[in-house]
Amino acid sequence: MPSLIKERIKDMRRMGFKLKADDVYSDKKASLKDAVMQFGGGCTGEFISPEGLLLTNHHCGYASIQKLSSVEHDYLTDGYWAKSRSEELHVPGLTISLLERMEDVTDRIAAGESKEEIIAQASKGKGCRASIEPMYYGNQHYLFVYRVYKDVRLVGAPPSSIGKFGGDTDNWIWPRHTGDFSMFRVYADANNEPADYSADNVPYRPKRYLPISTKGVKEGDFTMIYGFPGNTQEYVTADAVEYVTNISNPMKIALRTTRLDIISEAQSKDVATRIAYAAKHANIANAWKKWQGESLGLERLGTVAKKATYEQEFATWAADKPQYATLLDSMHTAYEKAIPGYFARELFNETIAGIDVLNFALWLNSQHEKGVKLTADVQNVGRKYYLGDYRVEIDKAIAKQMIGEYVARIPATEIPAQLTAAIDSYGGVEPFVDGLYNGTQLITKYPLTHDEIFADPMVQLAVWFAPQVAKNSNYAYRNLSNVPSVEKWYREYMQALREWDKERAFYPDANFTLRVAYGTVTGYENVDGEYHTHLTTLDGIMAKDNPEIYDYNIPQTLRDIYARKDYGRWSIEKGGKSTIPVCFLASNHTSGGNSGSPVINGKGELIGINFDRTWRSTMSDIEFDPDICRNISVDIRYVMFVIDRIGGASYLFEEMDLR
Ligand code: ARG
Ligand code: GLU
Repeated sequence: MPSLIKERIKDMRRMGFKLKADDVYSDKKASLKDAVMQFGGGCTGEFISPEGLLLTNHHCGYASIQKLSSVEHDYLTDGYWAKSRSEELHVPGLTISLLERMEDVTDRIAAGESKEEIIAQASKGKGCRASIEPMYYGNQHYLFVYRVYKDVRLVGAPPSSIGKFGGDTDNWIWPRHTGDFSMFRVYADANNEPADYSADNVPYRPKRYLPISTKGVKEGDFTMIYGFPGNTQEYVTADAVEYVTNISNPMKIALRTTRLDIISEAQSKDVATRIAYAAKHANIANAWKKWQGESLGLERLGTVAKKATYEQEFATWAADKPQYATLLDSMHTAYEKAIPGYFARELFNETIAGIDVLNFALWLNSQHEKGVKLTADVQNVGRKYYLGDYRVEIDKAIAKQMIGEYVARIPATEIPAQLTAAIDSYGGVEPFVDGLYNGTQLITKYPLTHDEIFADPMVQLAVWFAPQVAKNSNYAYRNLSNVPSVEKWYREYMQALREWDKERAFYPDANFTLRVAYGTVTGYENVDGEYHTHLTTLDGIMAKDNPEIYDYNIPQTLRDIYARKDYGRWSIEKGGKSTIPVCFLASNHTSGGNSGSPVINGKGELIGINFDRTWRSTMSDIEFDPDICRNISVDIRYVMFVIDRIGGASYLFEEMDLR
């Protein structure tokens, strides 16, 4: 944790870090933390100029770029480069959060202060947002105070053929050649404070921004990642890992394979469908691919068996300690009780909630239950969200499979009785779904009257599912182990572990709060005898380039530059030839949410932007293996090369500190 970095600074310095602990984090003076932000809901970004210019990933800016695009201005396909400040495009709804300070408030809460009071007190400043986050399953509580800036504008993005090069084919894979970056600028009022969008706003002046190293990386160099990782589960017991590997992942992978097959087939037949379903496909495929790597990795490491042995040793130690002696049994029982409900929610999310029009119906019903009147405007909001980029044939094919899978995988007693009866009366799931789509007006008619909505068969089905939706909300926690009936035991378990396992370095699981990870630039042995080196180059892009393959079709400008070897100041020598560095590997422990995180060298300079892990390291959310686990970053020199040579936006260099 940044505020505890003192405990690690010696080790960091031994590995090549040159700065001091309060250069990394301080709530008194400007520190590296002031250059880092949470970008949107789930990504990280970093300032690279005194005038609020920031970098994040292309996949983090994707939704914003899409929102600003139209058929005439397709910034996703063509890229976008503001040629001056006045061409920077405000993104409605996009915010960035800057951490002002973090504070351990465990003692204040123990002394009787309420969390609500602490939060209310801390969120008084303009644009301030405060939250208290549990660490170690609630053994400690930290207060985080953020400033939220709402005027964020798109400055530049490469075409998707660079920013998303390799697409889902290369996702989670090394060697990698994705130019996964985009640029935005934060605007503030005249006092540098958060303000709603206004033409009068001025560029935000950050307390700290990152200089850019143009020197490049070599194997063994110190690297540090500063960002907002979302979810790790380092301390869970064998029961939790077994749930992931034996129950949850296999179910989710199988169901997503079915959905992806349906979508891919439709996409392969029609270009417009390929585009309409591109983002959905990418979303479904991202976790689908990750879970497969995770399951394989956990199996290879034998994590379940290792955890079981560890727990046996713990039990031996705990046997004569009354407060801990039965702890593992209690945890085991708590898991047994929680699993059916947690599984039901996950299954529902992967099946029923994978059907777009049914999701729309569920949303309408939940709005109605909340007392919202289903006016034309309200219906329109839902239509846009659930039925934008929609193909009814795809959705219906998915519905046939997913409703079938749901009733096959959930205990019969949990299936809504009306649904069972309806499937019976139609003579099976398929004819039932045909009837459903023939009967519904949700897709074809707008606006609908209240009576039409509640007579609609799709909405009826949603109403039948309402009790299940209510049950699911009792299990709406990040992981099975965070379900309160399970989590309460983890508070004691964490205390006991820290008493027992004195040598172990404990740090709280990732939870979308600001963290530091450090490691070195390094390749790894992928399989016996096959070493993956740490750096990829433009030559690798050219080797993959293929106009026939959507994911590998690079812009013509890049081909031309390659043909002329017109690299300017960004070229490097490799094997006696000049080329451009593209992506590199390092050994930092990262997780989802670390996308867009700055990769910082020993001198505190920016050397890359983190955007992925290798497929074989995805089990690191549960067990990090230093031999195998690698994070993937886009080399900052490739970013600069693209801004300069592809974007023609080298004027942006004037406000950066290029070293
Ligand atoms: N795997 C990266 C992450 O977990 C990148 C995802 C975006 N790219 C994609 N091809 N879907 O988010
Ligand atoms: N791509 C991930 C994200 O969007 C980060 C990579 C990872 O999960 O390691 O947060």
